[in-house]
Amino acid sequence: MKTVTINKASQTDLPSIAKLANDIWREHYTPIIGSEQVEYMLKKYQSVSAMAEQISDGTFYYSVLLDGTLVGYLSFYPKDGALFLSKIYVSSSLRGKGIGRQAMEFVIEQAKTMGFAKIQLTVNKYNSGSIEAYKRMGFKTVDEVVVDIGGGFVMDDYVMDLFLNEQK
Ligand SMILES: CC(C)(COP(=O)(O)OP(=O)(O)OC[C@H]1O[C@@H](n2cnc3c(N)ncnc32)[C@H](O)[C@@H]1OP(=O)(O)O)[C@@H](O)C(=O)NCCC(=O)NCCS
Repeated sequence: MKTVTINKASQTDLPSIAKLANDIWREHYTPIIGSEQVEYMLKKYQSVSAMAEQISDGTFYYSVLLDGTLVGYLSFYPKDGALFLSKIYVSSSLRGKGIGRQAMEFVIEQAKTMGFAKIQLTVNKYNSGSIEAYKRMGFKTVDEVVVDIGGGFVMDDYVMDLFLNEQK
């Protein structure tokens, strides 16, 4: 049985996370939003400098390791009285094996420790596999939102909530 560990990311971890983000996003999002938007969003949100700025503004980044190898990452921050799960990604070849669920359990524990009763996330409306995974993990679609992210692009998302007091 391989061991999943989740470690708070420091500045020195950001280059490997940025590289993993490039690989995952290019593969996963190109069919959904097209390569121009993928490159725009990678630069704006997942470059080393962008992530360092997010961290200094209050976002928490974590590396997801399988037997010590980086296989995913996640980030969250407090927003409107909830924990907003901004990113959760697992390498494509390792999906469907329970790593995402373990990562989510970690996020749930963090949310509880921080005193939040709700985790919220947004997910692209056409990211159907991930929407199904979130539903399996107990999230419910509560809204939809279109956000202008500049460069002529929008994020066309569902808003999904997980209420921690409804958890078994
Ligand atoms: C979403 C993601 C993080 C889930 O991680 P994962 O390691 O694949 O998830 P798990 O294997 O722990 O699966 C968790 C549950 O979701 C279900 N699930 C996972 N992927 C699924 C899919 N594509 N379709 C339907 N159900 C799915 C699993 O069956 C499991 O349910 P169960 O435990 O009740 O049997 C991962 O699939 C991913 O990185 N996706 C691509 C990137 C992405 O879109 N991230 C989210 C951005 S908003």
